[in-house]
Amino acid sequence: MSTDFDVKLEKKSYIPDPSYKAGSALGDYTTAYQKFLDNPDAFWDEKAKELDWMKPWDAVLKWDYPKAQWFAGGKLNITCNCLDRHVKNGRRNKLALIWRGDNDSEEVYTYRQLHRAVMLLANALQKLGVTKGDRVCLYMPLIPEHIIAMLACARIGAVHSIVYAGFGAEALHSRIRDAQAKVVITADVSYRKGKSINLRGIVEDAVKNSSCVEKVVILSRERSPLELYKEMEVDYYAIQEGLEDTCPAEEMDAEDPLFILYTSGTTGQPKGIVHTCGGYAVGTHYTCKYIFDIKDSDVFWCTADPGWITGHSYIVYGPLAVGATVVITETTPEYPDPGVWWNIIEDLGVTIFYTAPTAIRMFMRVGEEWPNKYDLQSLRIIGSVGEPLNPEAFEWYYRVIGKNRCPILDTWWQTETGMHMITTPIGEPMKPGFAGLPIPGVLADVVDKQGDPVPAGQGGLLVIKRPWPSMMRTVYKNEERYEKYWNQIRNYYTVGDLAVRDEDGYIMVLGRADDIIIVSGHNLGTAEVESALVEHESVAEAAVIGIPDDIKGQAVKAFVTLIKGYEPSDKLVSELIYHVRMTIGPIAMPAAIEFVDSLPKTRSGKIMRRVLKAKEMGVDPGDISTLEE
Ligand code: WTA
Repeated sequence: MSTDFDVKLEKKSYIPDPSYKAGSALGDYTTAYQKFLDNPDAFWDEKAKELDWMKPWDAVLKWDYPKAQWFAGGKLNITCNCLDRHVKNGRRNKLALIWRGDNDSEEVYTYRQLHRAVMLLANALQKLGVTKGDRVCLYMPLIPEHIIAMLACARIGAVHSIVYAGFGAEALHSRIRDAQAKVVITADVSYRKGKSINLRGIVEDAVKNSSCVEKVVILSRERSPLELYKEMEVDYYAIQEGLEDTCPAEEMDAEDPLFILYTSGTTGQPKGIVHTCGGYAVGTHYTCKYIFDIKDSDVFWCTADPGWITGHSYIVYGPLAVGATVVITETTPEYPDPGVWWNIIEDLGVTIFYTAPTAIRMFMRVGEEWPNKYDLQSLRIIGSVGEPLNPEAFEWYYRVIGKNRCPILDTWWQTETGMHMITTPIGEPMKPGFAGLPIPGVLADVVDKQGDPVPAGQGGLLVIKRPWPSMMRTVYKNEERYEKYWNQIRNYYTVGDLAVRDEDGYIMVLGRADDIIIVSGHNLGTAEVESALVEHESVAEAAVIGIPDDIKGQAVKAFVTLIKGYEPSDKLVSELIYHVRMTIGPIAMPAAIEFVDSLPKTRSGKIMRRVLKAKEMGVDPGDISTLEE
């Protein structure tokens, strides 16, 4: 990639009221960052000591490029940090979870109740034969039991692999197979916009030809007796009957795996990102305490789904480790009207709200009269994640939701990083369009292909120059793909994004440098969608690109050549879109399909997506080649 494009940088900035910085756990950013630079190991040692460990570590970091071990020799169980210590230390009756569904339905769990529910299910999983190191796949709606199931796995040392319940049967199947999941936990249905979606049916399709799966646990939301296929299926409630609600926490090595989470890559096969018990606990706890600045009085709401890393880190592990009250909702932001989420903020007194740019842009379109109907005074901090928060969306979010008062945390990070990496810490001047500064603990830079820093105002590759505790440890059963992150530029972790820095060191993330499309904050590999398309009997070849979309950030456009005998038609377009929907899921559905006679290719036969993209955007392909790998 050449880096000879200059980016026009906004000069505007907003400065939060000084009380924010004065009252924050982080305090002064520059001082905290310097403390980290002075002695990185001491910095992380101190942060790790804020958690409960069963046995202390021998070394903070063992770095043997490109493999890291954090807190080696240390023993802990993350659930003791998320539950037991609060139950023992005064948060026993504090609300841990508040769930909201359609029609204002509500369920709540105190820390004590959550603790018991987790231990009960942990015992049930053990009785099913799940032991330390076994993989358990969760394909569940956004209900408290989803979180209980995650924690129950962690309690006994089983490795959860969560698949977002919007994925289709084939995507679920390939993830179950890759992880060799022994048990799958699901529900009969999820509810979306007043309709129920048959999750169980999708699971039943997905477990065909998955000989690894021994049991499917099904939670009936209607609490009506389920007709079970006895050889394989068990009832979520029945398996818990008569069991104890205490279950000792498995002693886990800091470097034992905690979970696998699949993310899209540039090949058709998704990558199983592996996170470990110790470093991940430290990173998520640290960022919840010092970046989100969560205090005991906060009511914290992250609108993500546990099926994504944002849900893992900032619905479950981080917020519970700091003992927060966590809000979750199965409602979508526009059903039954675009006021539901603002109503939840008013009703529950939400103080920290964390959402995605795509949701903010959707709210901008429906109009500020919706949030204006509700009292949003409880909000203290508002955040964003998943894709660049464009300046227009920033301004709207700041004025309409934050009432020109709340700092915006535009947090840049990834499934692979496990925790926030770049943002504008509370109290620092905020610049619309810029994610901000590397947080204390993180060494980030914008460099050229050789790894040399590029001057301010010039685009380059975003890299992380030092290991951090919650970094992924490997790609499940694919060490080579792990190493690729670290060997594009030796010793640096190449994140795959393009970025630019201004004179103050603020980083603006411009987007992906590879063949990944981010649709409404969900990562899709072009190759994944292409391989779904070519599975269809009519398709000879397919090439997929991302095109700009006002609300979703990007949308999928597919170029398709047909097998002889098939003719382009509107019916075929719908059929292909439906096929992608059923294979990967609604998030991957192409917004447009264009039939072409041939696809542009290199001499070696590689499809040149950038040429299609250039044509689509009406620019010279040469311009695009400077932007993309
Ligand atoms: C993008 C989500 C700009 C980026 C936590 C990254 C962002 C990918 C931001 C990771 C942000 C995430 N500004 N871009 N604040 N946050 N991204 O793995 O391209 O689902 O590499 O993790 O999303 O997506 P993932």
